[in-house]
Amino acid sequence: MDYRVFDTSEIDHTQIYRLLIGSIVPRPIAWVSTVNKEGMPNLAPFSFFTAVSHAPPMVSISVGEKQRELKDTAQNILETGGYVIHTVVNGSEEQMNRSSANFPPEVSEFSEVGLETTPSDIVGAPRIVNAPVAMECQLRSLITNGTEWKTHLVIGEILRWHIRSDLMIEDKYIDPHRLGPVGRLGGVNYCRTGDIFQMERTYPPPEKIHPNA
Ligand SMILES: Cc1cc2nc3c(=O)[nH]c(=O)nc-3n(C[C@H](O)[C@H](O)[C@H](O)COP(=O)(O)O)c2cc1C
Repeated sequence: MDYRVFDTSEIDHTQIYRLLIGSIVPRPIAWVSTVNKEGMPNLAPFSFFTAVSHAPPMVSISVGEKQRELKDTAQNILETGGYVIHTVVNGSEEQMNRSSANFPPEVSEFSEVGLETTPSDIVGAPRIVNAPVAMECQLRSLITNGTEWKTHLVIGEILRWHIRSDLMIEDKYIDPHRLGPVGRLGGVNYCRTGDIFQMERTYPPPEKIHPNA
């Protein structure tokens, strides 16, 4: 088998980025609503997004910089602490993509992409009306990596979930078929969750599995 080998010390950051987003796939997309200290709302997608722990319920997004400055999302989270992560689903791809444009801080992406908002219960940032899944989060820590190219790992705790009732199974699980999440792949590629299959745990017995296992 022939392999192409890349040593990260020998390739530039652009090529590293291409390999990274092509290898870690598919990535869920956090559609993040924030608000600055003047009350101006902001919305942007982040696919460097993952669950960190369930007890406490922590999630992380990784925010790069724009012209060597904090992106509005990271700046707002630092200023106000609270934010809302929405799951990106079928039908919202175009608006999600448009919300990633480089709007100045005084412009609200919500009105630019035609999304209605509703106030959140706990945090200052609004949520998207009718979003299937929205998570109100509170900043817990921010870790900055890099020197020339800085990335800010934002770790937050989920305080409250808003899940559309028709997506719930037995008031316990979120139905992935009805949710229809969209994922990001390498380059300009995305995917839908069109081929869901089931596989029971065989060992240890499923009832003994810790949720994290
Ligand atoms: C699908 C998608 C995923 C993205 N993921 C990230 C990411 O993980 N980290 C990041 O810094 N930027 C990411 N971006 C780019 C940001 O959305 C973009 O820089 C945006 O303008 C940031 O907005 P803000 O300045 O309002 O925070 C992504 C863009 C798209 C379309």
